Amino acid sequence: MSDIEFIRSQLATHPDFPKKGIVFLDIFPILRNPIAFETLITHLTHRITSTTVFKSPTRKIDVVVGLDARGFLLGPIIALRLCAAFVPVRKRGKLPGQCVSASYEKEYGTDVFEMQADAIAPGQSVVVIDDLIATGGSAKAAGELIAKQGGKTLEYLFIIELLFLKGAAQLDAPVYSVIQSE
Ligand code: ADE
Repeated sequence: MSDIEFIRSQLATHPDFPKKGIVFLDIFPILRNPIAFETLITHLTHRITSTTVFKSPTRKIDVVVGLDARGFLLGPIIALRLCAAFVPVRKRGKLPGQCVSASYEKEYGTDVFEMQADAIAPGQSVVVIDDLIATGGSAKAAGELIAKQGGKTLEYLFIIELLFLKGAAQLDAPVYSVIQSE
């Protein structure tokens, strides 16, 4: 079994959660299995070191940005492995100090993402991590926050991509997903 097949085998699906008609893809069984979690982190880190790093002017990723909330479970571990900074993007009102903000469309209405204003220096190379890309709205807002600070987003990485929602088309850099769902 390949690493990707192994990771996929650990995903759980919950029909009709959080509401009827949605098949919820649950990553937490991966985190409960240390071998699967290690395989996932190593797979994503290897993807970054073997491809994305070469597009960076300094051949180094400076910052890993993780999205609220499940991006916080992956981003810091990958950042440590890359010797990079970890920077969280959070829902409005959660981060202290001066912040930059960007709004995005959700299923019902809009939401606002924030990042601390001194988190990224101009010219730094950045990758964005989250568990899942659906419509791409939240990742797009994160990309805007990175661009506002002069950072360069080299890639967006996810465990799962819901291909039918075409979220990748919203983004200003390539998308890598471990598992694609139709
Ligand atoms: N976020 C948006 N759609 C989702 C899904 N089907 N499973 C898990 N998280 C999601």
